Amino acid sequence: MRDFLYLAPLQSFTDHHFRNAFQQTLGDVDRFYAPYLKMSNDGTIKDGPKQDVLPKNNPFEEVVPQLMACCAEDFLTMANYLSDLGYQEVNWNLGCPYPMVAKRDLGSGILNKPEKVLSILEEVIPKTKLKIGIKMRMGYEDTTDILTLLPALNQFPLSEVIVHARYGKQLYTGGCDYDRFEESIPLSKHRLIYNGDIATVEDFRILKKRFPSIHHWMIGRGAVSNPFLFEMIQENECEKPEDWKEVFHDFLILLLESHLNESSNEGNVLIKMKHFWEYFSSSFENDTGVYRKIKKTDSIKEYQDQIEQILLA
Ligand SMILES: Cc1cc2nc3c(=O)[nH]c(=O)nc-3n(C[C@H](O)[C@H](O)[C@H](O)COP(=O)(O)O)c2cc1C
Repeated sequence: MRDFLYLAPLQSFTDHHFRNAFQQTLGDVDRFYAPYLKMSNDGTIKDGPKQDVLPKNNPFEEVVPQLMACCAEDFLTMANYLSDLGYQEVNWNLGCPYPMVAKRDLGSGILNKPEKVLSILEEVIPKTKLKIGIKMRMGYEDTTDILTLLPALNQFPLSEVIVHARYGKQLYTGGCDYDRFEESIPLSKHRLIYNGDIATVEDFRILKKRFPSIHHWMIGRGAVSNPFLFEMIQENECEKPEDWKEVFHDFLILLLESHLNESSNEGNVLIKMKHFWEYFSSSFENDTGVYRKIKKTDSIKEYQDQIEQILLA
């Protein structure tokens, strides 16, 4: 069986601008996931993520939208919105680690209350046409919650369970718990997707060897840092393609144009581009020098000149 590769949702990075530029220039991703929808305090869905999933903003391959909810009512409000837009599937975020979120039983904060997760699923599944997948960490305070939750999830017709092999309170520090992930594999009858810390082809090879029954892999930060990673994994090739600089340049121009088409505030767009380079610069041998050059740019014109110099000179 071949390996299937998914681009992880990364709020403020893998939005429709990024996904569309990616799909026009790069490839080898089997599924794209959009960052999560969530409710505002006034009971409506937050506007930014709502725009992100509009079909007009997603003209290329199918995207799986995500939502974050800690009660059936909010879940269904967002699921109905997505279903009305024509989506067939939604991913439920049980991974967000931030304390402000987790203390309200959202994201990974609900993982140590399995009865709550199950009762939400019991209520929403009969009331939505959407297939439901889950993206979870392995627990909130530690990685033991998954041992209770995965077997209990077997009673539901889920499309998949994506597991980021950390616990919530870790945030992004420390390593993934590979032993716990391995222990979890036989507990699920659902399609399991491994996620966490795949940054190189070598990382992928090690994990593939360790988890031979896993054929679905989700990659986030590693793919933003090196958007050629999917292609390199599929081709089992540790080096970037020969023409990577030209392709990456085309990708960056599309990304920039897409933002400029949507925002008249060039200053904000420039800040956004610089933010990306915190990841992109790691593709270069002289990563600090490259990042410094980009950070120094004061206008979109200077930014365009700089990426041309860095990539095409
Ligand atoms: C800046 C940032 C934003 C993220 N936003 C989301 C999100 O909207 N939904 C989600 O499920 N996970 C989100 N994540 C988690 C990633 O999807 C992924 O699970 C995590 O980064 C581990 O995978 P990686 O090591 O391949 O990056 C985010 C992570 C980062 C660093």
